[in-house]
Amino acid sequence: NIDVSGLVDTEGGLLDRVVFTDQQLYRQELRRVFAPSWLFLAHTDQFHKPGDFFTTYMGEDPVIVTLDRDRRIRAYLNSCRHRGARVCRADSGTTRNFTCTYHGWSFNLDGALVSVPNQDGYPESFETGEWGLVEVPHVETYQGLVFGTWNPEPVSLRESLGDMAWYMDAMLDHDDEGTVVVGGVHKWVLEGNWKLAAEQFATDWYHVNMSHASALMALAPAGKKPKDEVVHRTGRQYSDANGNGAGFPVHPKNRFDAQTVHRWMDYDALRARLGEARVEGPLTNGHATVFPNFSYLPVNGSLRVWHPKGPDKMEVWAWTIVDKSMPPEVREAQRLYNLRTFGPSGIFEQDDGENWSECQAISHGFITNNVALNYQMGMGSERADGRHPGTTSELYSDAAGRAFYTRWRDLMNTPAWHEEQK
Ligand code: FES
Repeated sequence: NIDVSGLVDTEGGLLDRVVFTDQQLYRQELRRVFAPSWLFLAHTDQFHKPGDFFTTYMGEDPVIVTLDRDRRIRAYLNSCRHRGARVCRADSGTTRNFTCTYHGWSFNLDGALVSVPNQDGYPESFETGEWGLVEVPHVETYQGLVFGTWNPEPVSLRESLGDMAWYMDAMLDHDDEGTVVVGGVHKWVLEGNWKLAAEQFATDWYHVNMSHASALMALAPAGKKPKDEVVHRTGRQYSDANGNGAGFPVHPKNRFDAQTVHRWMDYDALRARLGEARVEGPLTNGHATVFPNFSYLPVNGSLRVWHPKGPDKMEVWAWTIVDKSMPPEVREAQRLYNLRTFGPSGIFEQDDGENWSECQAISHGFITNNVALNYQMGMGSERADGRHPGTTSELYSDAAGRAFYTRWRDLMNTPAWHEEQK
């Protein structure tokens, strides 16, 4: 294991670029950042009846998320205990058993091994009860979002979210009916380290005016320049010791643009439920990351996971969620809006992906890799502002980026439970 203390200088606001490129650090991330953390798995709306399943990843480990016969959401390592093949090769669906296509071992919704072809060829000591799927020990939900962790003794999901939950509720808790998923899960591959995307969603409103200038021009209401709408915005950026971050402009008119969803929203009811500070801020716009690799955009209803695929590559998985109470035409408008802006070919998404790939592509050069990166914006501006929970800074700030990498550094330097057991 590598001591990463010298790579993250929180006090100086500096980051060593090797954190994006080194294979050994990447393996350490899988062990010490991904294995012990709460990781986003799915939305509860993806599971309605026993046997509904969705396959995803925790770090690079493939997992099946499914609803068992007691209607409990459970997750298993998607790897057969015989020779290690996947026992489920579909993206999603409904099943009674997961049957491995290599030699035919079959597992039920409890993960138990229930059928072994030619079982009489095994010695008497062979017990099917010992060869069930490896279960993710803790799966919990928050406002329809399903998370899991391999950590056998984690703090609860709610505790790990802390004040971040207040900001998440601005997207997830508009009324008692909750949210549902519209459309499928979009997946695409990007050249770039997963942290480039996760930190940007935690901390970076700064890039918006430059990187998205053309997109903002295209979306500006008729007769208005984009700078009138966006450039001069002020707002706040939340950060915490768990590495979570969220930024949002504050704009009392409650609207980013002419989105159908804003015409449908009942802002008086939202104010009564969530309070003025949330409605004028994180409800209508902004960006956020729940450490380490789950991000969302409240204005779009976009959820996304940055799945790590080696130090140089990530796979983006993106959902669109809407309020269950929205009528069909509003849901459809929101789905199309998200697709147009932050779908795989969305006008904003392409700007971001281009930036991350550009940063990654040149970072393997020896000299390039040894020049520190700057995360100093807003240093010293973090404070309790009396209006938003936790610590916030100015909207244009690297505060949540510094918090993200501080959390990353601390986890990277801490032996995980599986190392302590050895
Ligand atoms: Fe699954 Fe052999 S690898 S049955």
